[in-house]
Amino acid sequence: MQEIVDRITAEDEAAGIARTLLFPYLNHAATMFESGYATKADIDAAMRFGCGYPIGPLDLVDALGASTVAEGLAHLHERTGDQLHVPAPLLARLAVSSSTFAEEASAGAAAEEPVSHHPVAKVGVVGTGTMASGIVEVFAKAGHDVVFVGRTDEKAAAVQARVEKNLDRAIAKGKLDEAGKSAVIDRLTAATEREALGDVDIVVEAIAEDLDIKLELFRDLDRICKPGAILATTTSSLSIAECAAVTSRPADVIGMHFFNPAPVMKLVEVVSADGTSPEVADTVKTLCLDIGKHPVSCGDRAGFIVNALLFPYLNDAVRLHESGVPMGDIDDAMKATKLPMGPFELLDVVGNDVSLAIQTTLVEAFGHEGWTPAATLQKVVAEGKLGRKTGEGFHTY
Ligand code: 3HC
Repeated sequence: MQEIVDRITAEDEAAGIARTLLFPYLNHAATMFESGYATKADIDAAMRFGCGYPIGPLDLVDALGASTVAEGLAHLHERTGDQLHVPAPLLARLAVSSSTFAEEASAGAAAEEPVSHHPVAKVGVVGTGTMASGIVEVFAKAGHDVVFVGRTDEKAAAVQARVEKNLDRAIAKGKLDEAGKSAVIDRLTAATEREALGDVDIVVEAIAEDLDIKLELFRDLDRICKPGAILATTTSSLSIAECAAVTSRPADVIGMHFFNPAPVMKLVEVVSADGTSPEVADTVKTLCLDIGKHPVSCGDRAGFIVNALLFPYLNDAVRLHESGVPMGDIDDAMKATKLPMGPFELLDVVGNDVSLAIQTTLVEAFGHEGWTPAATLQKVVAEGKLGRKTGEGFHTY
């Protein structure tokens, strides 16, 4: 921890880059906590388990000292005039009183352990992309029977192949044997008809991030799934309430936002809409723990915790590059603060099209002009340089 603090507060150019990108992110985390959107524990856990950060943002403010962060932001604000760089009121207060977010949080009620209210044995997954494949793998490895539905046999076969490839990788590393692989494979059932989801206890959908497409699916799931089945969406930016509203069971509709790569990242944001029943939220949180994930709770608002904190930081990195700082220097400066990837490396993993869509949604939801998608992010997407998936993004693969 001290190593990270020393790196961020050093006098060199890399530390200057880190402060320029980290301080607005820390400020936003302070605002999020102050608004009551999520608890300190959940905000810190979200960035650690969703993005592999070594420390959550509010713990990092405490480690750096609120006054260090508030002064750094004030300097940044002098340069930029951006309202987003004005220290959040709570951060400014902590800076003056030399107190911490940990002390602020301990004044609140302690979180209770979730309990399951519905047995969840059989799981359905809809979708055949990277996230869907990862989610199928996670549930099957945890011992659940999984029915996954693709639009064609080829797409369903691709999910099976991706899961098998990851299991083979685990075997090659000595972390799994052939019998273990067979047991996981035996729990998988591929389907091309949604009717196959009639007897599952929960459906997790990971199809296209398009509201009309999701609404069509939710209407169909409502018709097909047995009463009491939980209908979960992995959306990162669409409204859970709108998905719930087209069903006859809004209390059973919830968000389960997994992170990329799903088999590795431990976080699931469990997103309750106003109509989601607390029993369903508790059941889903318990399910997350059962499959080795760390659930955090948040409300039905674009970006939830992680994307709302992460993507403005990634966008700021692109703007810093536009101001003349080489991409490699930015990636290196951030990795020196122990982030697992530099911002341009991560943009290429997530996909620049996905990142642009998320950033656009965040601007619409929060109205911060300072979050307007960077011109270069828009340019790489227009040129089809979407990241690793197209062989070229900010970096070439
Ligand atoms: N699928 C399955 N397993 C994978 C994998 C993949 N795509 N990539 C890596 N792994 C596994 C490896 O097999 C290895 O497993 P092991 O420890 O059991 O042997 C483990 O992950 C670590 O992998 P590596 O040693 O090869 O690589 P790294 O140490 O560099 O870690 C990383 C890779 C875990 C991806 C790390 O770089 C990281 O944490 N990056 C940050 C990713 C991130 O921020 N994700 C969130 C993006 S935002 C999002 O998803 C929201 C959405 O709405 C867009």
